[in-house]
Amino acid sequence: MSKGLAILTSGGDAAGMNPAVKCCAEYAAQRGYTPYLIYDGLRGMVEDNIVLSSRDLLSGILHRGGTILRSSRCKRFFDFEYRKQAYENLQKRGINHLVVIGGDGSFRALNQFYHDFGVPFAGIPATIDNDIAGTDYCLGVDTALNVIRSSIDSIRDTASSFSRAFVIEVMGRHCGYLALSSALSSGAEICLVPEVPYNLDQIGARLKMEIDDGRRYVLAIVAEGTQMASYLTRWINDSIGMEARLTILGHVQRGGSPTVHDRVMAYKFSIAAIDALDAGLTDAIMVYRDGSYNHLPIHSVADAKYVLDPLLLRLAGPLGN
Ligand code: F6P
Repeated sequence: MSKGLAILTSGGDAAGMNPAVKCCAEYAAQRGYTPYLIYDGLRGMVEDNIVLSSRDLLSGILHRGGTILRSSRCKRFFDFEYRKQAYENLQKRGINHLVVIGGDGSFRALNQFYHDFGVPFAGIPATIDNDIAGTDYCLGVDTALNVIRSSIDSIRDTASSFSRAFVIEVMGRHCGYLALSSALSSGAEICLVPEVPYNLDQIGARLKMEIDDGRRYVLAIVAEGTQMASYLTRWINDSIGMEARLTILGHVQRGGSPTVHDRVMAYKFSIAAIDALDAGLTDAIMVYRDGSYNHLPIHSVADAKYVLDPLLLRLAGPLGN
């Protein structure tokens, strides 16, 4: 039986996707697979944007941010008719294994595809949100945190020069991981995340005491999932009496050359993903948990909710009070 294996990146791009693509294709070839690359994520699978992998396509991509395979959020993939089209595109090339590098929405889509047509897949967690259940780490998080850290360091320069407060909104969708980690690593005074109840009265009392004690500027990190960034900026200005500005970091957080950590994690997840397919697993998601690499069946990832590290919550949670 031919062993064709195709790699795609899907959902929000994340630094580390490119080293993962490269490593998956190269290691799959070593294991006797014929590697293919699917461009434009699930949309490319439907639209037949699939090419045989080659050294040329994989050269010079390690250090690049985003994904050279490009990505998409493809609603059409919810329709059986389009999934069938995608299956036919794989079948005519003898592709009977898939590696998807993306978030849990992409894993669910591939699981549906597996149930429809029996094409086994392995998932590599990649999203700056770090919100996938069962894994402590998703590709792209370290790079995003470093982009955020560098931005906050710059904002601190102007905040301290002007004795102002800065509210900085970070991404994460419904997850507060980026906000909590960034608040801790940048020594922010306030951090609001969706998972932790916050209390503006208590924050206000604390800040007023600190201002009386000599604090001249304030940094507040707000997770986008709280939708509190604009309100908090006005509140600091009006209730605390400190001139406040808002910075929404936005998509800059998704860019940048992958850090060493993201490159090495990409390799480790990739080897594990190909090994999982080689071992005959059909719906394995790679996870990194408590310092070890493992894999979980899709249902234990898709049916569970990501839980924030309790120690991180203990350290940064009080910044919401
Ligand atoms: O999932 C990654 C992410 O960057 C989220 O943090 C953010 O909410 C969302 O994607 C933005 O999506 P889009 O790039 O489609 O605007």
